[in-house]
Amino acid sequence: MRIDTGHVFKLEDYRPSDYLVPRISLDFRLSPDATRVTTVLTVERRQGVTAAAPLVLDGDGLTLLDIAIEGHALAPAEYQATPERLTIPTPAAQRFELRLETEIAPSSNEALTGLYRSNNVYCTQCEAEGFRRITYFLDRPDILSVYTVRIEAAHSEAPLLLSNGNPVESGVLADGRHYAVWHDPFPKPSYLFALVAGALGKVAGSFTTMSGREVQLGIYVEPGKERLAGYAMDALKRSMKWDEEVFGREYDLDVFNIVAVSDFNMGAMENKGLNVFNDKYVLADEETATDADFANIEAIIAHEYFHNWTGNRITCRDWFQLCLKEGLTVYRDHEFSADQRSRAVKRIAEVRTLRAHQFPEDQGPLAHPVRPRRYREINNFYTATVYEKGSEVVRMIRTILGSEAFRAGMDLYFERHDGQAATIEEFLKVFEDVTGRDLAQFALWYHQAGTPNLTVSSSYNAAAKAFTLEIEQSVPPTPSESRKRLMHIPLAFGLVGAGGKPVAWAAVEGATVEDGVIHVRKRRHVVHFSGVSERPAVSLNRGFSAPITLSVQQKADDQFFLASHDSDSFSRWQAFNTLLTDALIAAFRQVLGDKEPAFAARLAELAGRIAGDETLEPAYRALALSLPGESDIARDIGKGIDPDAIFAAREALARTIAAANREVFSALYDSLADKGPFTPDAASAGRRALRNILLDYLSLLPEGAALAAAHFRGATNMTDRAAALTVLAHRHAGARQAEEALATFETRYRGDALVLDKWFQIQAGVPGARTVEKVRALTQHPAFSIANPNRVRALIGTFSSANQTGFHRADGQGYRFFAETVLEVEKRNPQVAARLATALRSWRSLEPIRQDKARQALLQIANADNLSADLRDIVERTLA
Ligand code: ARG
Ligand code: ZN
Repeated sequence: MRIDTGHVFKLEDYRPSDYLVPRISLDFRLSPDATRVTTVLTVERRQGVTAAAPLVLDGDGLTLLDIAIEGHALAPAEYQATPERLTIPTPAAQRFELRLETEIAPSSNEALTGLYRSNNVYCTQCEAEGFRRITYFLDRPDILSVYTVRIEAAHSEAPLLLSNGNPVESGVLADGRHYAVWHDPFPKPSYLFALVAGALGKVAGSFTTMSGREVQLGIYVEPGKERLAGYAMDALKRSMKWDEEVFGREYDLDVFNIVAVSDFNMGAMENKGLNVFNDKYVLADEETATDADFANIEAIIAHEYFHNWTGNRITCRDWFQLCLKEGLTVYRDHEFSADQRSRAVKRIAEVRTLRAHQFPEDQGPLAHPVRPRRYREINNFYTATVYEKGSEVVRMIRTILGSEAFRAGMDLYFERHDGQAATIEEFLKVFEDVTGRDLAQFALWYHQAGTPNLTVSSSYNAAAKAFTLEIEQSVPPTPSESRKRLMHIPLAFGLVGAGGKPVAWAAVEGATVEDGVIHVRKRRHVVHFSGVSERPAVSLNRGFSAPITLSVQQKADDQFFLASHDSDSFSRWQAFNTLLTDALIAAFRQVLGDKEPAFAARLAELAGRIAGDETLEPAYRALALSLPGESDIARDIGKGIDPDAIFAAREALARTIAAANREVFSALYDSLADKGPFTPDAASAGRRALRNILLDYLSLLPEGAALAAAHFRGATNMTDRAAALTVLAHRHAGARQAEEALATFETRYRGDALVLDKWFQIQAGVPGARTVEKVRALTQHPAFSIANPNRVRALIGTFSSANQTGFHRADGQGYRFFAETVLEVEKRNPQVAARLATALRSWRSLEPIRQDKARQALLQIANADNLSADLRDIVERTLA
């Protein structure tokens, strides 16, 4: 392998820029192949910087057409321009106006960063470093400027012209052209710049803020799709209200616009006053979107809106601080969804996601701290660690300080840092200042990578009425951090007695215990509870108070007891999930030893009891009944992974549960049939989720394919239709009913790319060795396009990240197809290719034969010519 490390950016190298740009005006004359951009920068040398300091602006693939300072064209000797850099060695004045002209070709921009065209709509994506593909600039988040943007285009091509801030002027020009001018009074970094122009349909709304200002809301979609934007509009209004009520944050411009585009590298982008979204996270109705889609739309609309304060009003000093805006904003959108839906169910779903995406990252070669200290390519750090673990860290701050002090700290943060580009140190300081506490040890959550583990054992002495917990912490080594410091872990817990009642204690020593939380700070704590009158079962990490793994020596009896009686709904779910995981791991070993997996009868019985427990929300029951995924089981096993054996073990448990509960499951399945008209609310979605998981079990019994086929035919919404199709395709692959349903679905949604993505996704997820050929064939389907990120993620992303038996085919064909495809995607879109390539990050946990084949595939990528910085960074770290 060629190791070409490229430039490494280091946190300790940060220094403020010598120059500031308090104002910028941009003038775009749009045309698909030759867009002219005229930029006028007000440049100011920072106080105290020597006059000899050169001005160095970033570029990326730019051609400079014209350059002038204060109206005078510069002579060739007065500047140097390369595609990547514009240098003015000695600007004459302390403050001057710099005028630049560049030309770019949006139509041929397939990387989807900078200014590009998607479906004939001009749009931009500038985070993290896309602005430099539009014009030369100090493209770093600590340069805050007031933007004025003029856009000019042919009216026929782009009747709508949008940018950040408030509209100030528009007019008609000769030759069928027109223009609009936008002004954003809030200084912002370049990554928040946006422009959209095209022919789009509008859904209008309005919101009156807490101080009585009326804000005009607009959601722009492909013409004809307006009726699919109603749910997003409603979610936006609810988000605006919630941020006022819960964080005291009011919106600050006269307009707030959202545009849905069909080619987008990520989910969405929080550009000031002009959010740009992947249309997948805007468009929805019952015919085309599942309940999960509705929930995602609500969460992402909220997330981007919440960035207006956590990200835009207060931004990041440098990209190392990305979690300052992302972790905090994810925390805020999680809380929003918890308030809009069911808090208990939301929490379980969050933890499942964290474990599925962040844990493997933290436990593999791509591990990095929530606030990294090094990067080669910043786009590769929009990760589950920065986002999801970053959110958990904020949640722990609230757990440790209590909700009132947390809110006071947030208020101080907004007051103290409004209009600034801040750091994690400054964020932590506000909480120290409002409480007088020292968060130095806690801060390691930002600085140290890896998932901490707590090993816990307990003992009870009836005669002495003493209960003892022994807790030991360890943080595993991660790349470039072999020695770890001890963390401050807030471990919420409960002592649970007969019937689920809390067991009281008289005194506790050995650790600080407050409000149901043990503060683990040392390597080892022996926590003595005295005056404990019965032997309790101990419920640990309640509500998932810390993002850790637990190794608990606990009797199965206690685990069964907690799965039925824990008053903390998260821990109750966790207890059952742990029982299932333990059983699956044991079954995996039996399969490897050529034995029939066997399961304790009481496990299946408990599944039946949970399913029918009317005191529990249906959505909760659905989550409890959905078995740990194959990759969850693999992660818990750790090494020597044979995905086929995991699949066999999981299949055997599902069949055992189904067979043992046939009557209860079918009666419940029938009783949950949809009655009234469709509503996307959480309670209705929960009933559908429960019914659909029951279908999944029942489909394993005789006549299962017929049942699923009937479910498919009878479905009146996409949630039920997609669930039935999944059951048919995954459980009954090749059966007549499965083939028919796939064909029916394809015909029905032929013209709807977003819905056909589900069809690609379901087929890419079919377990077994034959799927790789099917996926290869589907890349030739007329609806597939290697240039569209949603298509690529639906087909290739699902196959490589969510199909354990298909992708990890023992002969390596899955990996080979994957390597070829990643390289194919990379020619157009390095960011999407790099993200795709992370699918092999856990290759070292595979059994030796697959491990070797996976390594060959990674090497095949690494050795390809002209690899992008994005993909090179991922494969080299994965192989290192
Ligand atoms: N800030 C956006 C969000 O979380 C994500 C933008 C990601 N951009 C990128 N180039 N990785 O809402
Ligand atoms: Zn974000």
